[in-house]
Amino acid sequence: MITHRPRRNRKSAAIRAMVQETQVINSDLIFPLFLIEGKNINSEVKSMPGIFRFSSDLILKEVEACMNLGINSFALFPNISESLKDKYATESYNHDGLYLKALREIKRYFPESCIMTDVAMDPYSSDGHDGIVKNGEILNDETLEVLGRMAVAQAQAGADIVGPSDMMDGRIGYIRQELDKEQFTNVSIMAYSAKYASAFYGPFRDALDSAPKFGDKKTYQMNPANHREALIEAQLDFEEGADFLMVKPALPYLDVIKALSDNFDLPIAAYNVSGEYAMIKAAAQNGWLDGDKAMFESLTAIKRAGAKIILTYFAKEFAQKSR
Ligand code: PBG
Repeated sequence: MITHRPRRNRKSAAIRAMVQETQVINSDLIFPLFLIEGKNINSEVKSMPGIFRFSSDLILKEVEACMNLGINSFALFPNISESLKDKYATESYNHDGLYLKALREIKRYFPESCIMTDVAMDPYSSDGHDGIVKNGEILNDETLEVLGRMAVAQAQAGADIVGPSDMMDGRIGYIRQELDKEQFTNVSIMAYSAKYASAFYGPFRDALDSAPKFGDKKTYQMNPANHREALIEAQLDFEEGADFLMVKPALPYLDVIKALSDNFDLPIAAYNVSGEYAMIKAAAQNGWLDGDKAMFESLTAIKRAGAKIILTYFAKEFAQKSR
């Protein structure tokens, strides 16, 4: 005789919904947006169907459209002209540059939006790396100074959350100190705590033309084989004053998301990256899987693993399709 029949809790849609443990909602999501120089430009990223690089006039319209759908949080990334890049990423704190100007505009028109910025040198670096390069080496402490200037400039332009994505050592503490010195005690820091040296960032680097000009990012981003190291990174970011801890990418690293959520009481975020988006879109376009179902399942799985916040290129589509 079978006494336990778990299938009873799956027998109707009503019961399945009643016992459902995890539900992704719009307010969990942060929508990454790509910014590009020019006017009236929306150019689709080839490897990311449905995702566009917007000039600053059109990015305002995109923010408005998303907010009307219930997506209020955005992560802003710039595509910087090659001619403005240099070894020290000086364009990253240029108040009249593309990024900071657009940020000020977005916050002026949509003060109730939540804008997260990217604190890293790579979009502005002529070397395409996240740090200052000297004799082929990525310098740590010298890079921190640039990151500090960048974070303060972003705070001045209205950033709600700064997101150091470079994996240099000590950056959370340094940025917190620099922000506080300038009275930006209310600006939050989302630490890219466990960011792996991943092949899944390919389409993002296409979108920003930000691929490294030589070598790879393995001396700063983590080895995909490592789990315990993620706990060390998260512990340091926690102690240095991070407000959120992030794991990136998301789907191949659900165990890491779970580990951080079991061990830390800060909100955990996961970055469902460009390659994860591209895989689903490519397969769906080929008719190889149902793209909508794969989207809902992926986001639900990421939240189930322990991520309260999900950065995802699906954010707008999710909001449209889950109404
Ligand atoms: C750069 C940065 C990257 C992403 C976010 N910030 C790429 C990289 O580290 O090379 C990737 C995001 C994505 O793939 O969606 N600091």
